[in-house]
Amino acid sequence: MCGIVGAIAHRPVAPILLEGLKRLEYRGYDSAGLAVIGPEGPIGRLRTLGKVSKLSEAVDSHPLPGTLGIAHTRWATHGEPSTANAHPHMARERCAIVHNGIIENHEPLRREQLEQGHRFTSQTDTEVIVHAIYDELDAGHDLTEAVRRTVGRLEGAYALGVIDRQTPDRMLAARQGSPLVIGVGFQEHFIASDVFALLPVTNRFIFLEEGDIAELGREQLTIWDAQGEIVERPVRTSTVAADSTERGRFRHFMQKEIFEQPRAITDTLEGRLSADGVLPEAFGVDAEAVFAETRAVTIVACGTSFHAGLVARYWIEALVGIPCNVEVASEYRYRQQVVPPSSLFVTISQSGETADTLAALRIAKESGYATTLAICNVPESSLVRESDLVLLTRAGPEIGVASTKAFTTQLVALLLLTLTLARLHRTAPGDDSASVALLRSLPAQLERVLALDETVAVLAERFVEKHHCLFLGRGEAYPIAMEGALKLKEISYIHAEAYPAGELKHGPLALIDEDMPVVVVAPNNALLEKLKSNLEEVRARGGELYVFADDQVPFQEDPDVTIIRVPETDDLIDPLVFTIPLQLLAYHVAVLKGTDVDQPRNLAKSVTVE
Ligand code: G6P
Repeated sequence: MCGIVGAIAHRPVAPILLEGLKRLEYRGYDSAGLAVIGPEGPIGRLRTLGKVSKLSEAVDSHPLPGTLGIAHTRWATHGEPSTANAHPHMARERCAIVHNGIIENHEPLRREQLEQGHRFTSQTDTEVIVHAIYDELDAGHDLTEAVRRTVGRLEGAYALGVIDRQTPDRMLAARQGSPLVIGVGFQEHFIASDVFALLPVTNRFIFLEEGDIAELGREQLTIWDAQGEIVERPVRTSTVAADSTERGRFRHFMQKEIFEQPRAITDTLEGRLSADGVLPEAFGVDAEAVFAETRAVTIVACGTSFHAGLVARYWIEALVGIPCNVEVASEYRYRQQVVPPSSLFVTISQSGETADTLAALRIAKESGYATTLAICNVPESSLVRESDLVLLTRAGPEIGVASTKAFTTQLVALLLLTLTLARLHRTAPGDDSASVALLRSLPAQLERVLALDETVAVLAERFVEKHHCLFLGRGEAYPIAMEGALKLKEISYIHAEAYPAGELKHGPLALIDEDMPVVVVAPNNALLEKLKSNLEEVRARGGELYVFADDQVPFQEDPDVTIIRVPETDDLIDPLVFTIPLQLLAYHVAVLKGTDVDQPRNLAKSVTVE
């Protein structure tokens, strides 16, 4: 899940490459590098361990002049984070490449190249690509042909940027299984892993398709498809503002994104509701007929998006009355599929590029699902392009590695799906005006919950010294507890696990003591009394309880029980409301611990490798 940027221009490219890398750091940040072809002399390359800021410092001390270059920020897969393993990789000072993805047949290629006398300087799977390109160039092929021949031998996933010292008027790009966009400027062209990297220099983009190879000059651009035919790909104008990827007055992107949730939800609802229901066009014209015939739903996703799917299961089964199965994509893809008749296959993904989710979609398309629907935040992503139906979440760019606004907008999208399915499955025409009113009230309700920020910041002090934490919930509150635990562990590195509260006595109760805070998600719903009994089990064993509860719930505070009051809402939107204080809790604990909130260790935002 590395980030790549490249530029061919009439102006110096190093500042463009560095700015692009900073914007791609969410994809990985254990090392970074760039290679620039100057007016004369060898290819200039700099690589540093750690974040892009280190690379910027290195470039300040050793400027790299030149108008053609490629750059990379890495999330290690093959080979530890080190300067030697950082990209760009080079062959005999002649050509340099940056790569995102995994080359599965790198071992046989490496053996072959070692026998031919190539010297390897890294442990990466990537290095075989640059040696292969070098061999093709050395055999007399031009750069485009050399790249074409090389990618023909690669198995696995790649997005590539390639430069050659002897071809200073061209940059090559290729894509298979990993995302890559071309930025179109005035007498300049760029490549990057996503549009955000290039927003400071252009808002015009071409999205490469699987198997495409592109030859970029300053003025000209040629793209070949997987069959080797020259193709015209549409140039799309992005409406995302360059400053939407900036932190503004907030200390961290995650904090900004938590506070953006009311706006993100307003945008996600826009144009999708009438006064008495979800508009039929929300899912596209073909969707209604398919949904009316849907007899079962399968939802597949990863990470936070998986948690959104788990909440939706409760909604779909309760309100639509059809079975809904939810599974993590990395398991689903390697399991024997049993497809219930007339099933809808739903993927949920912020990025739309998560490798396991994409693979699951591709399997589902071949295994007999009636229709595939993607709930996704990135309009041009692979998942969106490969699905029959799409509902975009419109959260805007999410930069913090820990997902926040993407999650709550996914929940909104899943509510729209549930209400649509419910309308189509009713025998009599229904009136959803009450649900519409609730959805429309959500942004204002979330503003009220965000006002808990200071309270939660104070509460966070009680978690800083802890090493473990348990999260409990029942019903829809259970996946919300899972999401709360995930947020805490991701950014504060406190070990946190979520359990359905009823499962406590089957094991986790053994862990309860004064060092194990127990966070409870306690909306005022039909399961509240059951939940209270579970909390008594914790209290009786000296556990420390932190209960997030509705205004109306008659809980008693005592030295071992802290109640955090959440504004009362309706059951239907409780999962969204209760998510917010848990995000704030994780955020403030991480800030107090001094961890890297937006780029926690070992993680990356967009997981485009298996
Ligand atoms: C990574 C991110 C998570 C995200 C998950 C799935 O693990 O750090 O925040 O939930 O990938 O990503 P997706 O883009 O498919 O929602």
